[in-house]
Amino acid sequence: MSNVLPLSERPDLTTERLALRHPNNGDVDAIVSIVGDWEVARRLGRVPHPYGPADARFFLEHVVPTGWVWAVTLLGSDALVGTIGLTPEEGADTAELGYWLSPALWGLGITTEAARAVVSYGFDGLGLPVLTSGYFEDNPASGRVLRKLGFVEIGRAMRPCLAAGGEVPAVRMKLSRAT
Ligand SMILES: CC(C)(COP(=O)(O)OP(=O)(O)OC[C@H]1O[C@@H](n2cnc3c(N)ncnc32)[C@H](O)[C@@H]1OP(=O)(O)O)[C@@H](O)C(=O)NCCC(=O)NCCS
Repeated sequence: MSNVLPLSERPDLTTERLALRHPNNGDVDAIVSIVGDWEVARRLGRVPHPYGPADARFFLEHVVPTGWVWAVTLLGSDALVGTIGLTPEEGADTAELGYWLSPALWGLGITTEAARAVVSYGFDGLGLPVLTSGYFEDNPASGRVLRKLGFVEIGRAMRPCLAAGGEVPAVRMKLSRAT
């Protein structure tokens, strides 16, 4: 991971409908209202429930700086409607793709569109040979997003879900850069 851009230098990205920008302190209320929703939290591994402004500030101050994380916004509006990012995996030339989106916008292809831009950045911008991701078995929409991007299953295991307070069955996925 030594040859990649410093995390702070990741560029903003634009797609047909979306602008992906750096998250900032003005996003706290939007993050709380989305991640505070049980239907979002129960599908994520590392967020507590209930979720408040201190949790959103922790995310901005301690999680965002450790990966390439973007706020997802609709073109023409600066309001955060989701986040998407790549988290470097310790000791390996890979990063893990993760995302969440406001339930009001589910089913419109927005995460797939954002993820295509982020995956391209991971392969072409960062030069990573492999990306990983994963989802809980009871979250098939996320599995569908990953399969649409070309990810393939590499295994199943129990994984912690902080919001649920235990381990739940999960699917591990990976995508190799086209050669
Ligand atoms: C998972 C999530 C990011 C998907 O976002 P989205 O913008 O709605 O995703 P897209 O519209 O790009 O694609 C969703 C796909 O799943 C499909 N889908 C939705 N619900 C489904 C279900 N219950 N079973 C199977 N497929 C489903 C959709 O039909 C679509 O596939 P299609 O394009 O072939 O029709 C969103 O639901 C979310 O934020 N969930 C909570 C947080 C989360 O799960 N994060 C990921 C953790 S691994």
